[in-house]
Amino acid sequence: MSLRRFNPYYRCFFPWLLDRVSKVVAPEREQLLSYAKGAVLEIGAGTGTSFNCYQSQVSEVYALEPDTGVMQKARSVLSGLPETQRDKIQLLVADAMNIPLADNRFDTVVCFLVLCSVPEPQQVLQEVYRVLKPGGQLLFFEHVLSDNVAVQRWQHRLNPLWHRCAGGCQLNRETAGLIVRAGFELQQLKRYQHEAFPVLVRQLVTGIAVKHQ
Ligand SMILES: C[S@@+](CC[C@H](N)C(=O)[O-])C[C@H]1O[C@@H](n2cnc3c(N)ncnc32)[C@H](O)[C@@H]1O
Repeated sequence: MSLRRFNPYYRCFFPWLLDRVSKVVAPEREQLLSYAKGAVLEIGAGTGTSFNCYQSQVSEVYALEPDTGVMQKARSVLSGLPETQRDKIQLLVADAMNIPLADNRFDTVVCFLVLCSVPEPQQVLQEVYRVLKPGGQLLFFEHVLSDNVAVQRWQHRLNPLWHRCAGGCQLNRETAGLIVRAGFELQQLKRYQHEAFPVLVRQLVTGIAVKHQ
């Protein structure tokens, strides 16, 4: 991971690509993040596209991101925010597989197009569960294995190549099932196809999962 900062793909192309994808899903992001409240941890915050979506019911945001290249862009996004918004947000260079924060610390955790990219989503979800307060919420938006069997075949076939070319992203995860297996209760779940996305990443799941009281 540390060598990424010297790699032109991760320094230039990857942050650019993230920004392009983020523009397409801006309405979905805004809608989902309107549910964020209290102390928030955003996993894999990328270039900081979510920062201006956090509303007044959010008291603080930890934006966790292991990639120092995209973190650099997030830092410049942060410096352009109004002071009241900026003062709430702290950047944290860390790996979500091992979150360096206390148990039961957060009211909300945000995973937006991240569980496709982490090496072990089960381990990340265990960590997310640990740092959430009882009754705390996980807000998620992820691309997943398609409902269409023909597309699924291509997702499985192309996954090894895709994984290498797209920053560790996996095409064929069944993220909603993983969230339930981590102990969460699904309070809202929507599965749909986003027509603006290429067919391999068109199947999305989004919703709210809650840690038991
Ligand atoms: C597709 S990008 C999405 C970024 C951002 N959430 C957004 O919506 O624009 C996936 C992000 O997950 C981050 N990521 C990958 N592995 C990670 C890990 N182990 N822990 C935390 N974040 C990770 C990547 O660095 C990247 O910023």
